Amino acid sequence: MHISRRKFFCGIAVGAAAGAAASDLEELVQAAPGSRSSASPSEKTIRLDMNVNPDGPSPRVLKVIRENPEMVNKYPDGEYGPLVEQIARFHKVRPGQVTIGDGSREILRMAANAYLPGGKKLVLASPTFEPMAGFAKQTEAEVAPVPLNKRFAHDLDAMLHQTTAPAALVYICNPNNPTGSLTPRKDIEDFLKKLPPNVMVLIDEAYHEYVGPSSDYASFIDHPVDDKRVIVVRTFSKIYGLAGLRLGYAVSSEEVSLKLSSLRLERGVNILGVLAAAAALDDSDYVRLSFKKNADARQEFYNQTNVRMLRQVDSLTNFVFMKTGLPSSQVIEHFRRNNIILGPLVPQMDRYVRVTVGTREDMREFWRVWELRPAGSHNMASNQ
Ligand SMILES: Cc1ncc(COP(=O)(O)O)c(C=O)c1O
Repeated sequence: MHISRRKFFCGIAVGAAAGAAASDLEELVQAAPGSRSSASPSEKTIRLDMNVNPDGPSPRVLKVIRENPEMVNKYPDGEYGPLVEQIARFHKVRPGQVTIGDGSREILRMAANAYLPGGKKLVLASPTFEPMAGFAKQTEAEVAPVPLNKRFAHDLDAMLHQTTAPAALVYICNPNNPTGSLTPRKDIEDFLKKLPPNVMVLIDEAYHEYVGPSSDYASFIDHPVDDKRVIVVRTFSKIYGLAGLRLGYAVSSEEVSLKLSSLRLERGVNILGVLAAAAALDDSDYVRLSFKKNADARQEFYNQTNVRMLRQVDSLTNFVFMKTGLPSSQVIEHFRRNNIILGPLVPQMDRYVRVTVGTREDMREFWRVWELRPAGSHNMASNQ
């Protein structure tokens, strides 16, 4: 699959072109040399594969980015401290408990490097966010994938069986990517009570801000348990719209944070990311607005699947894992040929595709392209 650089940026700009923040992001994009303004519609690629906020960051965040161009010629120096303190205040924890990373992916890598070398084992769900297993394999750890249960939640009893030695780390993605589904809070608490004392647990809350009120959910940062083995990870790449600026963080015990931070790439977090994240964290109105827009757009997506007698896993995120009844490779390829990129193939669930909830225009195009799928596939889809 090849997407030209130009097409790639066109796609992002198109995705960002609707909604409250659209004009600000649009203006910034248009001001850039070689911007998308001359692209014809047929050149546009719609990215429904990255689970980012289709409107991009808030106007206040864009203003900070626009007002600090001189920062790009500076190494990060004293900037990390204030952000760490701000995150700590935001979550009512001590600054020593916060570890920042070059995207939350770096935190996952730090955790793998901290706890898995020396022939240890990582326990995680299948399917879940793939890179975690990749980081574990880089340390030559054993990886024990445990299929999700029938409700698409982590099968924590089965995972518990896997936590005997040499298990050292459990990864729980909640809500889970690629399914968008929740694992109930109470089940995770029970799991922690039974877990061997030397096994760490990383809870990835990348999509936390999209969950909304649910009796089955409470963040392990906002409602912590008194357990030094728990590391909770968040990112600025999703609802905050800052995926390209690469910033994530973990909240853990101070001891664990020291261990994780020692594995961070020196000056690896970029300076504009730090400034933008600080502004983003302050802009809770924008988070609320993005949550609402996503919830409405996701509901509209369900309406469209209902009309077509399709099903999906109930999502608490900004993407939907949709059961097409067709081999996903065919569906993904069909959309790619029509300039829409869907989430990657999930071999364990090969009749599902992961679709990021995009702008209204993106989704209209998604359903138009869905209707173009090859003859005969409609029956296959609706009969599954
Ligand atoms: C569950 C989950 N965790 C972590 C990440 C990584 O996010 P980032 O490295 O951009 O912070 C993603 C990105 O898609 C994700 O879906």
